[in-house]
Amino acid sequence: MALSEPCSDRRKVGMAGPRGSALIGFAVVVLVLGCMLVVDGAPFPAPRINDCMSWEGCCPPRSNVPPIPFKFPGTSLPMRTRRAAHLVDAAYIAKYRRAYALMRKLPASDPRSLVAQARLHCAYCGAAFTYPKSNYALEIHDGWFFFPWHRMFLYFHERILASLIGDPTFTLPFWNWDNQSPTAPQPKVGAANTMPSYYTSPGDNSNSLWNRNRNRCALPPNTIDLNSGGGCSNSSPRSLRIDNTRLMAVQMRTATTPGLFFGSTYRFGWSGGLGGGNLEGSPHGTVHVFTGNPNAANPFDDMGNLDRAALDPLFYAHHANMDRLWQVWKTAGGRGNRVDISDRDYLNSQFVFYDENKKLVSIKVSDVLDLNKLRYNYQNVPNPWMSASSQMNSMSVDSMSMSGSMPPSTMCGPPNLDPNAMIKKAPMLPKKKTTVLTNKPLTFRLRRVDPSGKGEEILVFKKLSLDWTKTATINAYLFYPGADGTSIDCREFFGTFSHIPEANHRKKAAYTRSWKLGLSAKLEQLGLIDVSHVVVTLVQVGSSQQIKFASATVEKDQ
Ligand code: C2O
Repeated sequence: MALSEPCSDRRKVGMAGPRGSALIGFAVVVLVLGCMLVVDGAPFPAPRINDCMSWEGCCPPRSNVPPIPFKFPGTSLPMRTRRAAHLVDAAYIAKYRRAYALMRKLPASDPRSLVAQARLHCAYCGAAFTYPKSNYALEIHDGWFFFPWHRMFLYFHERILASLIGDPTFTLPFWNWDNQSPTAPQPKVGAANTMPSYYTSPGDNSNSLWNRNRNRCALPPNTIDLNSGGGCSNSSPRSLRIDNTRLMAVQMRTATTPGLFFGSTYRFGWSGGLGGGNLEGSPHGTVHVFTGNPNAANPFDDMGNLDRAALDPLFYAHHANMDRLWQVWKTAGGRGNRVDISDRDYLNSQFVFYDENKKLVSIKVSDVLDLNKLRYNYQNVPNPWMSASSQMNSMSVDSMSMSGSMPPSTMCGPPNLDPNAMIKKAPMLPKKKTTVLTNKPLTFRLRRVDPSGKGEEILVFKKLSLDWTKTATINAYLFYPGADGTSIDCREFFGTFSHIPEANHRKKAAYTRSWKLGLSAKLEQLGLIDVSHVVVTLVQVGSSQQIKFASATVEKDQ
């Protein structure tokens, strides 16, 4: 643990008046003392739930007793399998509905109620938890706690549902939206990449899985749009299926380091929200925004607004799929270093949740890295976008057949790609000047670093800023200056940045983020491992904002 070196630039003493020196001396003493009390770099201690402060009214019920440390369930809890939402049977649906009906009936003062669960999620992303020894409120999104925190949240949520119906074997389903098979194994429920019909019909309060605030274009039988900026999509179901597959393949396969997959390092004492991993923006964020109602009073409520998202039962099925993809990423093989983070500050960080007995429990990240110990696993489903080959340059999607009609991804740029000519033509970004991305595509070149040395090359955008209360989506392309942003079905498609609006973001300390993309894997796929520079094109999709970033550089990551 290091004591506060960034403290100096975080707390400025703006005093140079007549009684300057004495006051400056005093201020320096105060500053030094203040800095000594503030920690910079350590595991997060468990937040104190009774100190929660939320402008949005997000604080969960208080607790009169301190949290008890988490204990593994042990073999008293049967091993449970979370099943794909489109594959469950009528008996399961009835149970699932009963569990949410009971959860909805509980008063908000009960920490097991759906309202209290949603508030807990909101508090953890809404700057509601502060610490005496840190200058910054906790933020569990857009950084390396995203995957483990949501695993914990779902674990306790599932235990509550199970106890409400008195069935310890009960599990949440996972919404298998990454599976683009056009066939619906159970016609009444729908295909994997549509919202299962039992969430929407009947479309009223008699169905505990129904939610009033949803995008009408996301309802069955519409195909999900994993590249959505919200609202309706103009693409045909077939091209959505292809685009969704491309997006999954690129986001998963280019995440060749823990940093790329999990997101930014985030230690106690630091400002949060520094930048999510490959999947957090898209498909995770895009599924949120696509599912939320663009015409709600607060646009994209409920799913498309993190403050309210967990009010929709779909939230938990969506996150179960994210949780499953974490497992898939680790075991998929292929290029890179696909392992969990081993940093001690990460492993020892603690969070608190209410369990099925309304008891407050503190749990560490290291407690949730082994699913066997949590006594659940996932039903095996095909991951066609990932399977077969471990080689990027023969990506499985390229040879995949979807109702016999999935074409290989093609190059969308000029037919005889001459990378060197393209490099020559592309401008460099002005040094030491903020770059602004408007609704016009932006193309520039960057020098590579140590291409043959150890580690993976990554492209890093630093200090990315935008209006965090609104949506934003950026698609990136390599060696395709003509990109228009709607074309994902291009071999040059390089990855996407997507932001879910946070109505309360103005209250937060962190206003900039970084965005990282896995360069080595992509260059390998394009067969361009020998180029000296890369040519990058950024395009905003959907409603456009003024998006700024301080720098774009190629760096090395392990
Ligand atoms: Cu905590 Cu999907 O968000």
